[in-house]
Amino acid sequence: MQKLYDEMREKAGEAFPGRKFIGGEGNLKPRLVLVGEAPGGEEEKQGRPFVGKAGKNLSEFLEILGLQRESIYITNVVKLRPVKISPKTGRASNRPPNKAEVEFFTPYLYRELEILRPEYAVTLGNFALRAVKKDKKAVMGELHGRSLDQSGFTLFPLYHPASIIYNRALKDTYIKDIEILKEILQEKGY
Ligand code: URA
Repeated sequence: MQKLYDEMREKAGEAFPGRKFIGGEGNLKPRLVLVGEAPGGEEEKQGRPFVGKAGKNLSEFLEILGLQRESIYITNVVKLRPVKISPKTGRASNRPPNKAEVEFFTPYLYRELEILRPEYAVTLGNFALRAVKKDKKAVMGELHGRSLDQSGFTLFPLYHPASIIYNRALKDTYIKDIEILKEILQEKGY
């Protein structure tokens, strides 16, 4: 994995100069890989995925599932922070990843998954679902909360925790989906 990340960091430095590279982390022989969208501000500061607010969401998620952070692998589709600068205040804020970022990093995500060989890839949000499913038109509303056969592993799509904050109904769906995943994982002895 180190070799892959060294290559990714170098190539990302050429394609996106001046942007900080934030790789995945965790168990290198995981049964489950969690794939997010992209790092945010706190991740960029600390150089680690899913810390700060997203890390808190992740801890809740793992607690429901009864999993330890160290037992899984945690990564993102895009491995640098998609950022926009306000012309008025000069302040940086997050934006969705753009096409160039997604297209640059997606082939590396496939190589990451080949190295990790997980049983389950749990994706958070549309970007991760579409990248892992290799289907740019995949629709979350139709696919969330169930096991989908990929070659080599099972994909389990979830809504992105950030997308449910202001939507009570989606939040209920997200929790229900995690409960479904919990049952599946318990049956498999996780
Ligand atoms: N932090 C991450 O590392 N990934 C996300 O998708 C969201 C927050």
